[in-house]
Amino acid sequence: MAGDSPYTVKWGILATGGIAETFTKDLLTNPAIRDVSDVKHELVAVASSSSADRAADFVKRVDGLSSVKAYGSYAELVADPNVDIVYVATPHSHHFQNTMLCLEAGKNVLCEKAFTVTVAQAKKLVDKAKEKNLFLMEAVWTRCFPLSIKVRELISSGAIGTVYRTFGKLVFSITDTLACPAADLSFGKANPDGSLDFPDTNRMVSLDLAGGALLDLGIYALTWVFQSLYHVQPEASKEAPKVVSAINKYKTGADEQTSIICQFPQHATMGIATTGMRVATDPDGQKTAGAAIRIQGSEGEIQVLHPAYRPTAYRVIKKDSDGKVEVVDCPIPTDPQRNNWGHGMFWEADECARCLRDGKKQSAFMPWEESVVIMDVMDQVLQQGSVTYPALITTDVYDAKSPLNTGNQ
Ligand SMILES: NC(=O)c1ccc[n+]([C@@H]2O[C@H](COP(=O)([O-])OP(=O)(O)OC[C@H]3O[C@@H](n4cnc5c(N)ncnc54)[C@H](OP(=O)(O)O)[C@@H]3O)[C@@H](O)[C@H]2O)c1
Repeated sequence: MAGDSPYTVKWGILATGGIAETFTKDLLTNPAIRDVSDVKHELVAVASSSSADRAADFVKRVDGLSSVKAYGSYAELVADPNVDIVYVATPHSHHFQNTMLCLEAGKNVLCEKAFTVTVAQAKKLVDKAKEKNLFLMEAVWTRCFPLSIKVRELISSGAIGTVYRTFGKLVFSITDTLACPAADLSFGKANPDGSLDFPDTNRMVSLDLAGGALLDLGIYALTWVFQSLYHVQPEASKEAPKVVSAINKYKTGADEQTSIICQFPQHATMGIATTGMRVATDPDGQKTAGAAIRIQGSEGEIQVLHPAYRPTAYRVIKKDSDGKVEVVDCPIPTDPQRNNWGHGMFWEADECARCLRDGKKQSAFMPWEESVVIMDVMDQVLQQGSVTYPALITTDVYDAKSPLNTGNQ
């Protein structure tokens, strides 16, 4: 497409919380900061289930144009003919109903992780996208990082021989700001007795909001297990893992510490994903604790440095390296014209734009089938740990008037 003008995508933002703001600021950075010239993004509408004023405040915070529509309901957003694609940024509890609302209205969707609360819901979303011939992607932004693409290429090219095992961990303590993937972590602090101090209504621990370490954080540890052991499997021999897991529960009933073994016996590989809210992957905030992800092959290993959800460096340790380690830095660019915004979420937005431009309904970085298999793993883990969420958020029956769509929940 060299020489052509960039393909422009018009975005609608559904919900006005922490990650919606981070994502939208990324959207509004100049693509040139990341050497992108084939696509660009426009913010055209924002919706808050709380009020139109809240949406308008959001538009101000992200320095949006005066033409950006600020709606006081999700229904109005999905009815806006000017919106090409909706970014769903509500808590996971809401993803199924909100994404279905968008798809039913004929909108393409980028939906935050975790995709849904159950695998049945994930399958229904994929079926609906197929039926409506729409683009749909789970927003596992890490997969679109140039670093992740490079690591997948290294694995596929045999740079560390045959890969046999991956360790992935995403553990954070609520005092560890570096490892905080959510804006609301400042709500809590660790008590001296070791208990967690989130309000029980906080989305990290509330069952009503599908809280718990697994769906919020563990998904990143799992995504590295999947990127390195499943994504790279040949299509003809794709093998979903056997799953063994253990969960320690928080007082609300949500999982606070969770460990998962994914076994792929036909490929002789195994992945171990751990997550939790009590101790940190990076306890001193100085990245001295070693790799967050270790991908181990017959000829060496690739280590992805903390944080696993937003990595900026990896290293390759070859069997015959004689103590020499190759460290590769992959910095995330920022936009000096836009208050130095730039978090790394623009790469997934670019991926959506290219898919829309090319008529693709799903991204090869995060294919539908893989989102469904990962949701299946998480579903099994939650069942093995007896974590039960309320029927309102686990139903796979779409209801446009669900309180999850109308803002009464
Ligand atoms: N990719 C990442 O790095 C990353 C980081 C953090 C979070 N996330 C994901 O993004 C999603 C949102 O996380 P967040 O940290 O942005 O959450 P948040 O700050 O609590 O924002 C969630 C937004 O959802 C809307 N909402 C509707 N009903 C709600 C309810 N009953 N309770 C709370 N909020 C409700 C609200 O917006 P309105 O009032 O405007 O409708 C609220 O501001 C989660 O699925 C999370 O896993 C991803």
